[in-house]
Parts: sequence; structure tokens; C-alpha cells
Amino acid sequence: MVRRLAQHGLLEYRFGAVRKKDDVIIEPQMAIYWPRTLKLSPGATLVLSRFAYLRRRGNEMILESPLAGALVRICDPRIATALAALCTPQKISGLRRQRGFPGLELLALLVDCKILLKVDVASGGGLRLSEGDENLALWDFHDLAFHARSTEGRHANPSGGLYPYAGVISPPPAVRPRWPGKTIDLRALSSTRSETISPFARILSERHSTRDFDDKRPITLGEVARFLGATARVRRKWKSKLDLTEDAPEVAYAARPYPSGGSAYELELYLAVASCEGLASGFYHYDADRHALVPIAARQHELKTLFAAAEFAMDAAAPPQILITVAARFARVSWKYGSIAYSLILKDVGAVIQTMYLMATDMGLGGCAIGTNNIDLFANMTGIEFHVEGPVGQFALGRGRNAVGD
Ligand SMILES: Cc1cc2nc3c(=O)[nH]c(=O)nc-3n(C[C@H](O)[C@H](O)[C@H](O)COP(=O)(O)O)c2cc1C
Repeated sequence: MVRRLAQHGLLEYRFGAVRKKDDVIIEPQMAIYWPRTLKLSPGATLVLSRFAYLRRRGNEMILESPLAGALVRICDPRIATALAALCTPQKISGLRRQRGFPGLELLALLVDCKILLKVDVASGGGLRLSEGDENLALWDFHDLAFHARSTEGRHANPSGGLYPYAGVISPPPAVRPRWPGKTIDLRALSSTRSETISPFARILSERHSTRDFDDKRPITLGEVARFLGATARVRRKWKSKLDLTEDAPEVAYAARPYPSGGSAYELELYLAVASCEGLASGFYHYDADRHALVPIAARQHELKTLFAAAEFAMDAAAPPQILITVAARFARVSWKYGSIAYSLILKDVGAVIQTMYLMATDMGLGGCAIGTNNIDLFANMTGIEFHVEGPVGQFALGRGRNAVGD
């Protein structure tokens, strides 16, 4: 019963009630979280994760991390003081002797949450590289916190169009208030007569979002092939050295039809297929180099959850014929760009989404961008850890209910 309540996020765990007052309260952020106190030996050395942060939430102090399955509400400021000392590696035996020692169990819970980590001081190599794999070392703090908190799956906060300040702050205007001064009127200079509109400008003006798809006329595999080939296929590959020195690393590149910051092309397309003529329902990776679809054995209930979330996000009556997840190989960008990596990735997503919108319009198909992603669901479906490769965008694709030819 307790396990089931926990899986639905209905439990929090009070800690330290022996002194009749909670030291901390653990608030699970993920359904899979279950508090575990692994055994810590007195000789172990602990340090705070560089992803952990302490902040005020209302009248409370909370300690959290994008790596943690739970956050910790700190009720006693002495606990925060004791934890602050862990910004430098400390032996447990030494910590025990200090005043305000928070207790082995709490330390073990924080190690389990990856808020604290065990380090091998003898190994050297720097704390950043000892925290996890190379993919984690490449993430900056702000980028991983942004990724885990602006998507779904790794936190329990409400998200989506919630209008949190409606009634408190008036809605910002659709169009910016005018700058004062003289204007240069462009209207007379830009003709809108149809014969002067180029085919591309026509596609731009016809582009719109389609959220309802025609169940009787699914998209065909041939159309999927044309769509992917035109929007995402690798067009050219080359290598170049980082600089002119002998031992400079050589970096490989693969150009695609849309623009990408630094020519990184870190974005991968995954197709969840609900209905497509000539292609079985399921989950596929688009191999942009070989121009091929590779089936991935995802579980039915996960596919259903993915489609249900898309349906909800579009306020649609049925799932899209195809749901494209745009996933990023984060390290490909952060290896070069460090602190601006995540922002570049989101800009790349904008470029690929508009490319997909325009191609869908050109082919008489319909599409719609979707602003939410569940990073935990994707990790479960692919078996890839959330910080290695994960969803950063979604696009629903299919033959619209009112497509030309109806
Ligand atoms: C980044 C982004 C996220 C979006 N997310 C959603 C979404 O979650 N659900 C939805 O129905 N439409 C979504 N849209 C589509 C917009 O609602 C749509 O582009 C906008 O209303 C303008 O309409 P149009 O595309 O038909 O011109 C999104 C568009 C963008 C660019």
C-alpha cells in the first residue's frame, strides 16, 4: 500500500522526528523514488555534487539537484550549515566529530539522491570528472538544471499553460507598444499581389499548425521517406582539425538541410508511429546518415503514454499519425560550447521545427510543434540516461483532416 502511494507521488518522508522535530522532509520528485540509506564506511570521503543547490521556496529552504529523484526540505538551519562544509571533500570520520553532524543516515540518503557523492581523493583527476561519466562532466550546472526543470519527468512541479499570475499581473500585449518618433512606412513597398509571390513565400504564408488528422487516410511510408529526406538527411560529411597543430583533435561533421549552431547537428529524430500506410506502429530512430528507420523495442504502455501526452498538449481528439521526438546528443554541443550549449540546442530545435512545418506544408501534410517533453519517459523507452541524449522538441505529423483533396 505504501509503495503504491509512493508510486503516485502521494508520500513525503519525514526525517529526524526522534527529536520531536523534523530535521528534513524528503519530497519525491519521480515516481520511482524510494528512500534508501546505503551503508557508508567511516573512511569514505563525501563532497557536495556541483549540481546540488539550496534555495528559498516560499518560507522554506530546499536542497535539490537535477540528478536527484527527490528534493530535501531543510527544517533545521544547522543541517544546511553542516552541508555547506561539504563543499570541500570531507572524511565521514572527521565529519562525525564536528558539532551539528547531521547523522550517517541523512548523509546516506543524500548520497543515494546524488546530492552528495563519494569520492576517491587518492585518484586525483578533479571532482568534475569523478562525479559521473564524460557526458555528465560536459554539462554546466545551469544547463542541466534548466533541462531537468523545463521538461517533464524529473520533477513534481506543475507545468504547461497554467497562467500562474492571471488575475494578479495583467496579460502582456500581443504587439509591442510603439517606439516614439518618425516611422518609415514599408507597406507601399511590399506587394501582396499573388502573381508576385514566390512559391517559397506562398508556402510560408500557407504554413499553419494542424492538430487533427484524418484517420481514414494515414500518411504513407513513401511520404515519410520524402519528408525525412528533405528535412533531416545527412547531405555531406567531412572532417577538420581543431587547429593547425600536429596533435589537434580531428572533428567530424555531417551537414543536414536545416542550419545548426557550429555545424554540430546534434539533433536526432525518433518516430512514434500510430498510423502509417506501409509502416508498422511502433517506435523508430531515423538514421539520418543511411536514410533508414531503425525499430526500437519500446513497450506498448510507454508508446501510449507518449501519444496521450501529445494528444493532451494539442487538445486533440486523437493521437497524431506520427509523433516525431527531436532528441539532442548534448555532449556534441557542450564539448565545444560549454555554458551556452543548451541555449544553442533549443535554437537548433526551432530551426528544425520550422523546416518540418514548411516541408509538411509543401507536401500537403499537416504538422504541429509540441512544447512539452517527458525526459524520463524517453530515457525508459530508449534505455539512454537522461543527461546523455534526451528529448528537446516534438512535432506531430500526418495528413490533416481538412487536407487538400478532401
Ligand atoms: C515552440 C512551440 C511549441 C508549441 N507547442 C504547442 C503545443 O504544445 N500544443 C499545441 O497545440 N501547439 C503548439 N504549438 C503551435 C502553436 O500553438 C502555433 O504555432 C501558434 O498558435 C500559431 O499558429 P500557426 O502555427 O497555425 O500559425 C507550438 C509552437 C511552437 C513554435
